Amino acid sequence: MYARPISVGDDAGWIAVCDLDRLKAETIVRVVGRDLLVIWNDGDVVACERACPHEQADLALGQVTAGRLRCPRHAASFDLRDGTTSAGWPSRPLRLYPARIMGGQIWIEMQERQPGR
Ligand code: FES
Repeated sequence: MYARPISVGDDAGWIAVCDLDRLKAETIVRVVGRDLLVIWNDGDVVACERACPHEQADLALGQVTAGRLRCPRHAASFDLRDGTTSAGWPSRPLRLYPARIMGGQIWIEMQERQPGR
């Protein structure tokens, strides 16, 4: 997989959002000042929108299991690789954002991730 470099200090749109150690300890962390979450998923970091695409439940209260984020309200789940919704739900996929680990920090890019990135 091609990994785009993070340009720290320029205006590339990347922001540091939390410590890696905190994310590992908490699994799901709210991004302060943004309606986004970062998630520790089996050794990888994922960034996504905070509101469930179904009826906007707070996904920060959800659970991560086997690569999926489960909504706390109606239990739809989202694949953390591509945001796809579990079968039977009419909702759009979960929006994902590029995320990287650098210098013990989690960095996210504020543009929604495009398929294949
Ligand atoms: S609000 Fe998340 S599944 Fe309904």
